[in-house]
Amino acid sequence: MGKDLERILVSEEELRSKIKDIAGRIDEDYAGKDLLLVGVLKGAVMVMADLARALHCPVQMDWMAVSSYGAGTKSSGVVRTLKDLDTDIAGRHVLVVEDIVDSGLTLSWLIRNLKSRGPASVEIFAMLRKPDALKTPIDVKYVGFDIPNEFVIGYGLDYAERYRNLPFIGTLAPHVYGGK
Ligand code: PRP
Repeated sequence: MGKDLERILVSEEELRSKIKDIAGRIDEDYAGKDLLLVGVLKGAVMVMADLARALHCPVQMDWMAVSSYGAGTKSSGVVRTLKDLDTDIAGRHVLVVEDIVDSGLTLSWLIRNLKSRGPASVEIFAMLRKPDALKTPIDVKYVGFDIPNEFVIGYGLDYAERYRNLPFIGTLAPHVYGGK
């Protein structure tokens, strides 16, 4: 994997410590409330698993699968639902858990979709955000790290379905995806 990786952007230790901080804030913000975590497959699997175990408040977990990237490296803006929630979220406090907000197109669609179901609240936790790539304003309540507009892999993030299992977040060498 070494030569496909350009550099490590966020280390395992930094991820662990950020999860702990954000879990503490979520525990406080949702104290006494019934919280439903909604993970967005497949990228959010790692962050969801780590966040859920770092929380002290009781939560439920559900999953949605949507697709926006295909096998390329740029957001298409076309969002398809591949798997819907099993849970009725009417009246529930929902926290969407994401690995990355890139253009914001996926989440902006998803938030509109979830709000139309009448939840008590909907907020977002995204481990990564690329401020320079945003194409639509999006209010992310909990952000792990703001990162440059580069192609990132690891900790759930893939390039053509590979590299998701890296325990850190790295940048992909341009030669892998046909860049310079
Ligand atoms: C990634 C990521 C977000 C979305 C962000 O998912 O998990 O859902 O792209 O991009 P955007 O802000 O530009 O819309 P992807 O569609 O690659 O699916 P995956 O989670 O299965 O890898």
